This record gives sequence, structure tokens and C-alpha cells, in this order.
Amino acid sequence: MKTKLLDSTQTEEAAEIILRGGLVAMPTETVYGLAADALRGESVAKIFAAKGRPADNPLIVHIWEPSQLDGLVRFVPEKARILSEKFWPGPLTMILPKADVIPDEVSAGLDTVAVRCPSHPVARELIRLSCPLAAPSANLSGSPSPTTLRHVISDMDGRIDAVLDGGDCEVGLESTVISLACDPPRLLRPGGITVEQLRAAIGDVEVDAAVTKPLAEGAAAASPGMKYKHYAPKAEVIIIDAKPQDFTAYVNERKAPGTAALCSTEEAAGLEVPFEILGDDHDMEAFAKHIFAALRRADENGWTTVYASCPDKSGVGLAVYNRMIRAAAFRIIELR
Ligand code: TXA
Ligand code: MG
Repeated sequence: MKTKLLDSTQTEEAAEIILRGGLVAMPTETVYGLAADALRGESVAKIFAAKGRPADNPLIVHIWEPSQLDGLVRFVPEKARILSEKFWPGPLTMILPKADVIPDEVSAGLDTVAVRCPSHPVARELIRLSCPLAAPSANLSGSPSPTTLRHVISDMDGRIDAVLDGGDCEVGLESTVISLACDPPRLLRPGGITVEQLRAAIGDVEVDAAVTKPLAEGAAAASPGMKYKHYAPKAEVIIIDAKPQDFTAYVNERKAPGTAALCSTEEAAGLEVPFEILGDDHDMEAFAKHIFAALRRADENGWTTVYASCPDKSGVGLAVYNRMIRAAAFRIIELR
């Protein structure tokens, strides 16, 4: 299959492809998504084939304005209403009891559906011109989510009908996922909307244990996506929890061919190995925006051992931490 490259003004052509049952990679403010008509099971099935995604991992349905939610779920609880008014359009996904129009391919057999209203104007225009779109991140299953057009092309060229260019993604990490199908609501995946913001809006929110820890052997995942190995570069990633000068010293002591670092500006000063800067110390928005691109570059550079500085666990840092510990297969060295 030849993959067409469309610029951001060609949303009508992209919408036609979707309505004919095809697959289009689209920009969003979080990461690029791989979109198909959410209400047609046979179109959605193509997403799983293109990504190599396990069939039991459900997809997020994207809507262009909040009022589209009502047609996709059985009912909208008060807390969901509050969150949609406060954070949509934006990087928040809500899990709710699904309506019958949602095909099994989207919900992977669960009785709930994940819905999100993205804020990226190109995504919203595409959905407005077509229909609600099922869209996981537009990467091959197991590699880091794509935050640039180049990442999408490198994973998906030849596997999908078209790629719609929308520039680099603003947030850089996938949306926050919260389930409102339980009480209190439960944070399943941290993202750009923080748990602090969610609690300020609706009160008590539980944080699923799988957000910061490996899933216990045999335990059922509240969010099926959390049980899979994720965001894994080929390099061995090791997280170092240390003060900046201790990080630098620790890594320099282990200087060797193929060894490198992902770190803050402060930590990079004085490093004797190659590095990628994620942002200034404690600037977790910058870390979020750069982490996936940095993990991809680690592989492109042929790095084999990568020491990464430990993100703060508050605010957006919790989302960065959640992705980094997976990339590191939960290897963390505590030096504090
Ligand atoms: O920012 C994002 O959310 C991006 C962009 C493209 O919108 N999408 C994205 O999709 O990250 P994906 O498929 O890579 O991640 C969706 C996550 C998975 O962990 C999946 O298991 C979970 O949401 N999920 C989807 N539906 C669910 C449901 N009904 N119950 C529990 N978890 C669900
Ligand atoms: Mg994904």
C-alpha cells in the first residue's frame, strides 16, 4: 500500500479516506493517532493489523466537540460532565459505560468505552468532516508513541492509507485516562491533565497501583494497555534517582562505548558521555514533550546503555515517571 502524505489543509481528503473505511494517521496535541471510523468494526480491525496491536487492548474514541459524547455512552455521570466542561477539548480520556453503537473491536469486549475530545485543530476538523474516530497512538505496538510526522512515517509508511501533517505534538505524552465507571473515579494513566487538577475538579480520585509499579504476576489490569511492555527502546534504560551532581558523577564512572544519558541541562554540564537533554531541572512539561523523541534517538544513535534522570512524581512529572519506568523495565537506582 502506498501511504499518502497530506498537509494540514487536506482534511477533506483525509475524511474521505476515513469514510471509505481507510486508515489515516492524524496529529493531536498529545501524540499522533492512527484513526479509523469508530462505528465500523471492520475499519477498526485494520488498526490492529497495521500496528500489530493485541486484540484485547481497547481503543479511545475521539470526538470533535463534547456534545458528541452523549451518543456514545449509556449515560454521563455528573462528575464526567464536570470534567468534560473543564478539560475538553484537551488531553483527558474518560472511561464510561458504552452504548450499543460501539463495536466490540473498539471496546475489546469490555462494557465500557474510552472517549476523548482532542484540542488539536487538525484533529477536530478531521472528526467534524468525518465521524467519531477510534485512534490509538500511531506507532508500531511496543515502540514509543510518535510525537513528530517523521516518527509516524518511520513506523507506518506502507501500512496505512495516509498521514496528515500537523506539526510536532505539544504535550508529547498520551492523554490522562480516568475511569468514571467506578466510584471513586480511578486514574488509569497519568498525562497532561494532572491528578491534582482532577481532584480539584471532582474530589476524590484513586490512582491505580499500576501507574507507578509493575502489575503483580497474574493480576488483571484495569486498563489492558498497562499490562503490555511499552515504550521500549532497544537500549537498556536505567533510571537514576539522584541530585544533579551525583547523577553526573555516577554516569561518568560508567563511561563506555554505547553508554549515554537522558537528562536535564544541569546534569548534562560535566557529563563525559553522549546525552540528550530532556529539559531544565524540574521542568516536567519539557521532559514530557521530549522523552519519546529522545528514546527513539537513543536507538538511532545505537546506544546500548542509557542512564536517565528520575522525573519528579508530582504534576505532569507523574506521567513522565510512568512512561520512563516502563521504558526502563522498572530498573531504578536510588542514590538519594
Ligand atoms: O493521547 C492519547 O490518548 C492518544 C491520542 C492518539 O489520542 N491515544 C492513545 O491511545 O494513547 P492508546 O490506544 O495508545 O492508549 C489507550 C489506552 C490503553 O492503555 C488502553 O488499554 C486504555 O487506554 N483503554 C482504552 N479503552 C479502555 C477501556 N474501556 N477501559 C480501560 N482502559 C481502556
Ligand atoms: Mg499507545
